[in-house]
Amino acid sequence: MTQPRLPFHDGHSIPQFGFGLWQVPEEGAPGAVAAAAAAGYRLFDGAAIYGNEAGMGQGLRDSGVPRDDLFVTTKVWNTAQGFDSTLRAAEASLERLGLDHVDLLLIHWPCPRKALFVETWRALIRLRDEGRVTSIGVSNFNAAQIDRLTEETGVTPVLNQVEINPRNPQPDLQARMTARGIVTQSWTPLGNGLSFDAAPVRAAAARTGLTPAGVILRWHVQRGLSVIPRSTDPGRIAANVAVLDGPDLTGAEMAAITALGTGERCGPHPDDFE
Ligand SMILES: NC(=O)c1ccc[n+]([C@@H]2O[C@H](COP(=O)([O-])OP(=O)(O)OC[C@H]3O[C@@H](n4cnc5c(N)ncnc54)[C@H](OP(=O)(O)O)[C@@H]3O)[C@@H](O)[C@H]2O)c1
Repeated sequence: MTQPRLPFHDGHSIPQFGFGLWQVPEEGAPGAVAAAAAAGYRLFDGAAIYGNEAGMGQGLRDSGVPRDDLFVTTKVWNTAQGFDSTLRAAEASLERLGLDHVDLLLIHWPCPRKALFVETWRALIRLRDEGRVTSIGVSNFNAAQIDRLTEETGVTPVLNQVEINPRNPQPDLQARMTARGIVTQSWTPLGNGLSFDAAPVRAAAARTGLTPAGVILRWHVQRGLSVIPRSTDPGRIAANVAVLDGPDLTGAEMAAITALGTGERCGPHPDDFE
């Protein structure tokens, strides 16, 4: 299987396809991560709030994949925002993971009413400069919030992880990120299965032989998005990453799936989530 990488503007890069760890129980995380690594995943998307960083780190060690071949993401939770508290939160994540650095650290949500995301960003810059983190980015930010980080610190995030699925395809946000040299990464990419029965998804599945989930993951990949589906089923873990090998969706199929967008979200609106 080919594992394409997407370039960051800081000179590093990220595997396009990864494994998400939200709602994976701590005790199941080692097995799920090792199964994903055996299936070919190299990008693992964790977060302090997922409560499974120790299990994630154990699974990475159990996988036998050399550390340099792995790409590990974690995130600073909302209650840790602020300069000193973010430094402490990042060190605690590294300790739980059993790693001396992560490849990518994200601010999990902007929490606009807290008004701490610029200070939090300054802490991520410090952690990057000290080598505890290779690259730094954000999650659930809009373009104006990202521009504020750039204006106030001179450092632009390399990646923005946001909700993207057929009901909430967010092509405009992706275009704004691309214009700034920022990789867009899709969370809840399968959209809680709510589009599995939609006619364009069914039609593409019938033509290609992919499952509805496979069609939707191909749609993310062909849009140039980084995508991080989660599964605890070994068969689905392997089937999901296998879509990297195709088959391709046609331009018409891609457009028909994007046209399913209603803007309805699976998760909260980032303006309202503190
Ligand atoms: N930054 C943020 O605010 C944020 C928010 C949410 C999520 N995330 C990240 O994004 C990752 C992915 O999002 P997610 O976990 O919400 O949802 P997801 O990956 O879109 O979907 C996971 C669900 O789909 C099922 N599934 C997986 N593969 C399938 C397949 N081939 N066919 C049918 N069902 C399938 C899984 O069940 P089984 O386990 O039974 O297969 C699970 O119930 C998270 O794990 C997390 O790392 C980030």
